[in-house]
Amino acid sequence: MQEGAKHQRQRQLLMPPLHGDRMKAYGETICSITRSVIRNWQPGDVLTIRHAASEISLQIILRVVFGLNPGERYNRLYKELMELLEAITSPLYSSQFFFPVLQKDLGARSPWGAFLKRRQEIDALIYAEIGDRRQHLDPGREDVLTLLLQAQDEAGEFMSDEELHDQLMTLLLLGHETTASALSWAFYWIHQDAEVEDKLRFELARTSKPEAIAQLPWLTAVCKESLRVYPIALIAQPRVVCESVTIGDYSFDPGAVLIPCIYTAHRQSKTYPEPQQFRPERFLERRFSPYEYLPFGGGARSCIGAAFSLYEMKLVLATILQHYTFTLATKGKIKPQRRGVTFVPSDNFFLRVKDQVVNRRDADSLF
Ligand code: HEM
Repeated sequence: MQEGAKHQRQRQLLMPPLHGDRMKAYGETICSITRSVIRNWQPGDVLTIRHAASEISLQIILRVVFGLNPGERYNRLYKELMELLEAITSPLYSSQFFFPVLQKDLGARSPWGAFLKRRQEIDALIYAEIGDRRQHLDPGREDVLTLLLQAQDEAGEFMSDEELHDQLMTLLLLGHETTASALSWAFYWIHQDAEVEDKLRFELARTSKPEAIAQLPWLTAVCKESLRVYPIALIAQPRVVCESVTIGDYSFDPGAVLIPCIYTAHRQSKTYPEPQQFRPERFLERRFSPYEYLPFGGGARSCIGAAFSLYEMKLVLATILQHYTFTLATKGKIKPQRRGVTFVPSDNFFLRVKDQVVNRRDADSLF
């Protein structure tokens, strides 16, 4: 929601923990959170993979962005946020945010009253964490909250508690559902085509180190192709033309609003022959320009979580596939379906756990 220099400054501040070596420091944490979420799966279980992906991505955000360590506050915040994030993706529940007439606090049993109560509880936990961390500031920590606590504006002012809270919530909302949705699609495509899965399992059998996993070419191509066929954000943020501009055969005057459509860019048959086909090898055969492939948008407002979420996607996928095999347990055709700000596989997409790749004792000792 910010503009100009302030927006650029905030981006520069938030980027480092989500890139390069800082990001890589979270590799082991991502794998261990994943193992803890999947450890009780049994052959025969039928799963909605999005639920597991949501649990995993929320815990990762709490660790990487909020810098929370497991404990009572972590558990309470996790539970409250999980319930809130699940509720706000229901169109019925979220309609109250758009229609003020529905915003009536008729006690904790009414939808708006329940929302206010939950928001109050979440805010109290976040402000308590900000307070503690401000008091015992450890500049050596590498999470986003630590960096924000130390950041000063050009007048030398630090961020207020309210500003910190808002930044954390923005990153949570943008970083949680998106990565979980992207993971759901990847699982869908992998189990649609035995050859894609075989190649992936062949690659994954050779390594369990996060850094080596992140470099695997087929795994990388599978994640990128998955984000191409159904980019979970169909459009990027709207842009307002500031100076007259010509794009292709079209001219636009100042004030015009342009909305880049990621989905149509990814479905151009000139760039991607048979665009509706899932073919990860496209990404091994050639490189695509930022105008051809843009699942994370582009330019000065591109997604700041792009590198991190691709890294997270690869490690979560690899960890799950290294522990279990699955079969599709889908009823009918899978279609994209809106969920919050993203598009996910429709509710009839299920995976059945076929087998464990390592025995339970090994899995437990890994955790
Ligand atoms: C697969 C996962 C994700 C996808 C597909 C995705 C996609 C996008 C897209 C399309 C935009 C708009 C870019 C534009 O208008 O040019 C965006 C913006 C943004 N994303 Fe993501 N995102 C993902 C994960 C994340 C994560 C993990 C975080 C943070 C932890 C994050 C934080 C943001 C922020 C802060 C912006 C606004 C940037 C700005 O306005 O300067 N995203 N994302």
